[in-house]
Amino acid sequence: MTNLSEKTTMVVGASRGLGHGIATAFADAGARLVAVSRTAAAFPARNNTSGSIQVELADAGEATAAASLLDRYAPEVLILVAGAPPYMRPLQEQTWETFSLNWESDVRITFHWLREVLLKPLPPNSRVVVISSGAALNPNGSPLSGGYAGAKATQRFITGYAQDEAMRAQLGIRFATVLPQFAPLTDVGRPAVQAYAARTGLSVEDFLRTQQFPMLTAEIAGTALVKLAQMDAESLHPAYVLNGAGLHQVT
Ligand SMILES: NC(=O)c1ccc[n+]([C@@H]2O[C@H](COP(=O)([O-])OP(=O)(O)OC[C@H]3O[C@@H](n4cnc5c(N)ncnc54)[C@H](OP(=O)(O)O)[C@@H]3O)[C@@H](O)[C@H]2O)c1
Repeated sequence: MTNLSEKTTMVVGASRGLGHGIATAFADAGARLVAVSRTAAAFPARNNTSGSIQVELADAGEATAAASLLDRYAPEVLILVAGAPPYMRPLQEQTWETFSLNWESDVRITFHWLREVLLKPLPPNSRVVVISSGAALNPNGSPLSGGYAGAKATQRFITGYAQDEAMRAQLGIRFATVLPQFAPLTDVGRPAVQAYAARTGLSVEDFLRTQQFPMLTAEIAGTALVKLAQMDAESLHPAYVLNGAGLHQVT
């Protein structure tokens, strides 16, 4: 899959943050973009060479949203970015409701959408990317984010289960998980960086300087996801870490 023009790409969670950067990059690369979120995604005026943009308002956590949008558009590229900002506080200050927030949003969304991808199914050679988190790879999880790290790890598991089912049924659909590290300017990243900086007694700037990798932005995420969608199926790996230096295979 090298040419995105004339391909329908659906980005779920496109109104802000990483999803908005990803959606913008796909439209700039010439894709027919379907931008899904609960509040309307806004994009700058397009020139003639860029692809079309269709904005769809939907709660991606409702099973019917996945079914009806996949039926209507049958995208060749589907990117699930939507997720909730976790409540940043230590374990004893969480309630079950705050702790389980990302299970009820991020995991629920992944479950409904990947299930529908398999049931429909999407056309052969379709590509499905699920945005998890680098927190899912940390041996200690993400101790100030309640159930976030476990929820993001479960998104990766579900993506692997879906790949296995697609192979068994010879559907020809390829799945990948992308695990971003800190993007400190977006609504999930900003409070996380502030909370971990405060816990280590550092300013946000000094805390970011202690990180071993360059910080992610929405624009870098967009460029990386377009590259991923353009890779040949044989070159595609099941999982990648994403940071300011781009994509890195998870071994
Ligand atoms: N930022 C980071 O540092 C970081 C690091 C690792 C992983 N991630 C992951 O990357 C993803 C994006 O993070 P972000 O910081 O860009 O988040 P963000 O700025 O809060 O944006 C989240 C997007 O998801 C949409 N969304 C949330 N729930 C939805 C629902 N039920 N239905 C439809 N759309 C929904 C939001 O739109 P509406 O509110 O309009 O629906 C918004 O467009 C998340 O899954 C996050 O866990 C982020």
